[in-house]
Amino acid sequence: SAVGTARHFLRDDDLTPAEQAIILDLAAQMRADRFAHRPLAGPRTVALLFDKPSTRTRISFAVGVTDLGGSPLTVDAQTTHLGRGEPIEDVARVFDRQCAAIVWRTFAQDNLEAMAAASTVPVINALSDTFHPCQILADLETIRQRLGSLSGRTLAFIGDGSANTAHSSLLGGALAGMHVRLATPVAYQPEPAILARARQIAATTGGSVEVLADPIAAAKDADALATDVWTAMGQEAEHEQRLAALRPFGIDSHLLSHAAAAAIVLHCLPAHRGAEITAEVIDGPHSAVWDQAENRRHVQKALLAFLLEEGERRR
Ligand code: CP
Repeated sequence: SAVGTARHFLRDDDLTPAEQAIILDLAAQMRADRFAHRPLAGPRTVALLFDKPSTRTRISFAVGVTDLGGSPLTVDAQTTHLGRGEPIEDVARVFDRQCAAIVWRTFAQDNLEAMAAASTVPVINALSDTFHPCQILADLETIRQRLGSLSGRTLAFIGDGSANTAHSSLLGGALAGMHVRLATPVAYQPEPAILARARQIAATTGGSVEVLADPIAAAKDADALATDVWTAMGQEAEHEQRLAALRPFGIDSHLLSHAAAAAIVLHCLPAHRGAEITAEVIDGPHSAVWDQAENRRHVQKALLAFLLEEGERRR
């Protein structure tokens, strides 16, 4: 195939609402029958490239690729020349001749754009500073699994509104026709262009997007409360400042009591009990975090199958 025919997943809105629904349906099938789909049989190799640490993404992609009949090749960037400044485009050309897809956890979203622009095989964002779209597919799959539907339900993200998971919750939730509420301090607002894009999508799907300063108003009657770490990878120098600003935005039993009676609580993990979420909540009956972590595997398998098939169709 040629550059330009591959279908990539660099941000949530690289999928249409209909495509997102197809992937979530396929993920549920894959959860029910783990080895029924084998698009990577051969085995074909999928490169899993990490510029940052990972537990869940690493294991869920490695196990998922194996489930699909393929062979995962996990590479830490610091052990390659990419970590020493080799041009991304050159790395893409080496990987795409030997791998069926490239999964990359990196810093700048531009890195992913550069990789995708030079690659003949799908490039998948496994977390960047701006988006974490595989995570939000898993969050949506978990809400559907636990509550039965997405459209019209309310997802309240409480915490750092400028986090990659907040941005992806805005876009991914809007694509699913959800009412997305973001409760965040003034200093941690989402990127305006991403917020505007989420509102544009919500206008077409029947969803809505609100940014609030009051976590209780955001949590009121919500179907799902979500949060993320307050100090992400690369932000360690800001830790104390972040703790001070975000302290009123922790998820505890009091905040949860304002949500719907059957509400679930999501955290993409790793968690800091006593900071963004209390132990009582994350280890309590409303928590869906272990289903959420497992669903990473199912949605990523469905995503890989979808992108590979799309690439074949477009070739
Ligand atoms: N949620 C998530 O991406 O976890 P890891 O950083 O462990 O991969």
